[in-house]
Amino acid sequence: MNSNSLADKDKKFVWHPFDIFKNSPNILVERALGNKIYTTEGRILSDMVSSWWVNLHGHNHPHIVQAIQKQAETLSHVIFSGFSHEPAIHLAERLIAILPGKMDKIFFSDNGSTAVEVGLKMALQYWYNAGKQKTRILAFEGGYHGDTFGAMSLAGPEPFNQPFQNHLFEVVYLPFPDEQNISKTLEVLKREFNSGLVAALVYEPLIQGVGGMRLFNKALQEKILKLCRDNEVLLVADEVMTGFGRTGKLFASEHFTIKPDIICLSKGITGGFLPLGATAATKNIYEAFNSTDKRKIFLHGHSYTGNALSCAAANASLDLLLSDDCKRKIDMISQIQSQFLKKLEGNKKLEWFASIGTILTMSQRPEKSKGYFDSQSEDAYQYFLDKDLLLRPLGNALYLSPPYCTKEDELLHAQNVVLEYLEK
Ligand SMILES: Cc1ncc(COP(=O)(O)O)c(C=O)c1O
Repeated sequence: MNSNSLADKDKKFVWHPFDIFKNSPNILVERALGNKIYTTEGRILSDMVSSWWVNLHGHNHPHIVQAIQKQAETLSHVIFSGFSHEPAIHLAERLIAILPGKMDKIFFSDNGSTAVEVGLKMALQYWYNAGKQKTRILAFEGGYHGDTFGAMSLAGPEPFNQPFQNHLFEVVYLPFPDEQNISKTLEVLKREFNSGLVAALVYEPLIQGVGGMRLFNKALQEKILKLCRDNEVLLVADEVMTGFGRTGKLFASEHFTIKPDIICLSKGITGGFLPLGATAATKNIYEAFNSTDKRKIFLHGHSYTGNALSCAAANASLDLLLSDDCKRKIDMISQIQSQFLKKLEGNKKLEWFASIGTILTMSQRPEKSKGYFDSQSEDAYQYFLDKDLLLRPLGNALYLSPPYCTKEDELLHAQNVVLEYLEK
């Protein structure tokens, strides 16, 4: 089928997520390799956002391709309640060995939103099982945890979620902490702790993703985590975006001394090949569900939980991630991103800029302060596409989060195009 008729059928039959770039048809992709996306029209685009942060090592890495092919010859999927298999067991063991804190068990699901829902439900039911009336949830303003109802509730009154406001559950939002507002935040926390009703804080460690790619003040975030720990509030770290090397360490929670009780993972877990969510819990959490009373067990399971192909892909991606070669690549990208900051100094178009590990992030001054709906993001998206770069600005936030296979000259080129864009 030629690309014209495929494009027509795409328009006719397919509903794409976030279809906001109405005027341009979707780009048809023929294949992808490394950080390159090859379109049916013969264009070659460099993927500088790792296809929504899932692609760790580059597209179609042969090691992961082979692992999936091999796994598909014996077992693709089997019900995961009452049954188990080697790829899932092996993956759980390996994740527990590298996750920060004292994680004891891995619960599989199938995407980032479900990994967060599972974490949230574990935290709430932990207290329910203990017979304690702790039902309130804390989260940071401007956070993003996914598109399901629990995850939307955590994000709060964001433009994304406006149509569903009446159906979201109540969450206590902490201001995004800075030196100016921290005393107000501490007051809110004190009030909440005094109520004795708080079950958990759900947070993105170190950097907020979709909510604007903003870096937390680490010391202030740590202070809040410590207060929560001291006041018997469970810590649920959403590492869906930050996990698997993005922030320079394997997991962003490693940057903190206070470790979470529950960690939510997805995105990079399979190296960008197949959907998989994983929620890790400490022994303390797990033991609260370890009961012969059916009302106390975790009554939650998705059809594709523990999918064997996804687990095989994740194991292969871990092989690559834990190699010295990958560590070198992550260090090289991190260094180039941080060196680039000097070139942004004094740029009048930017409100702020920063880098953390492999992520470079900056916020353009809003023209009319429309946040996520600012049309700058559409203009920027198109500008970069015209230069054969896939960058997907989030409102005013512009960021580079390339796959780890990206070479020095490729990253420098992308950074220079960002500079050109800011100077135009
Ligand atoms: C921090 C965070 N949590 C959860 C999610 C939801 O993941 P998914 O899109 O796989 O449902 C995302 C997605 O961007 C995310 O960045």
